Amino acid sequence: MSNDNKACTLLTAPAVFAVENTYQIMAPVSGEMLFWVEIGDEKYYDHSNGIIRSDTDMHRVSVPMDLLDRAGEYSVCIKRIIDRKPYFPETEEAERFTYKFRPVRSDGPVNIYHLADTHGEFAHSSQTGTFFGDDIDLLILNGDILDDSGEIENFELTFRLCETITHGERPCVFSRGNHDLRGFYAEKLADYTPTQNGKSYYTFRLGKIWGIVLDCGEDKSDSHGEYGGAVCCSQFRREETQFLKAVAEKGDYLDSAIEYRLVVVHNPFTYTNEPPFDIEQDLFAEWTEILREKIKPDCIISGHLHDTLVSEIGGKLDSKGQPCPVTVGSKPVYDEGGNLSDFIGCAITLDGGKISVSFTDSKHNVLSTQVLNKQGG
Ligand SMILES: [Fe+2]
Repeated sequence: MSNDNKACTLLTAPAVFAVENTYQIMAPVSGEMLFWVEIGDEKYYDHSNGIIRSDTDMHRVSVPMDLLDRAGEYSVCIKRIIDRKPYFPETEEAERFTYKFRPVRSDGPVNIYHLADTHGEFAHSSQTGTFFGDDIDLLILNGDILDDSGEIENFELTFRLCETITHGERPCVFSRGNHDLRGFYAEKLADYTPTQNGKSYYTFRLGKIWGIVLDCGEDKSDSHGEYGGAVCCSQFRREETQFLKAVAEKGDYLDSAIEYRLVVVHNPFTYTNEPPFDIEQDLFAEWTEILREKIKPDCIISGHLHDTLVSEIGGKLDSKGQPCPVTVGSKPVYDEGGNLSDFIGCAITLDGGKISVSFTDSKHNVLSTQVLNKQGG
């Protein structure tokens, strides 16, 4: 296939997503191009069984986490396609985009910014997310970043937020929200987001942090009319239970170098919401028990409720025996006319065994700060 669009390029800076012990470096692009990442002398291609991919608007390359952490720099390289004919395909010369990279710091405080529930909005939420400026260590995008997956262009917002807040120079963690599951292109979401072999739940390790991303899927039963019979989240969640059990059994979170264990999940499932949102109580109770009895996280970080609050053990969101504090850290603010006027997100600092949680607005005002009671072993 030939490519006449000479302007084809990266649409945003790459986003560097943590998944298990790799970084998935992803970038939306306009036009057909070969795509690879260079770290030192090593090259990592976006390929399909040895064929370098070009017929896509989203590229992804997985690189070893420890290699990029040590290198502190990576280059995204592209070759625009002129004509990908069967023999002697033609491409332009390679173009290189180099980014500094700083892993989560091993000494001193770790600054995490958390956004969820931006629901397609960029202006306020991106400003809110720049709270730490260059001092950020990790960005967490925790679901409902899009309002729906009805248009393929909607997926770009995730990358625009990562670009504005991290400039391709810091790690990000992505988790899916219930609104992401809605729309014509939702079934392609795994092609446009970081996954572990296509699964939207996985663990990650970032220096002294061990984390697990969980995915509650939709927030009502699969038979709800809103979904028109197009979701099977009950089966999805049961498969995820097996994953969670395997993670608990394997015990990677027990590594002595780990100081903080975090759960990132859009929907704070320890809370039993009102009907029709009161689904899967037995299953969510099992997840809660596995976390409480085995994994012993220090904090569950959520969104979904469009609120900013910390529920300590026995608190407002503790319907099932919370294993640790649950922080809900995302709140769109609307004016009297119903227009978005501000966005409140959550700044989390890990330091000296303490977890400090602040809710901050788009002008970087700190609205409240709370130090959590750390529970983990
Ligand atoms: Fe939600």
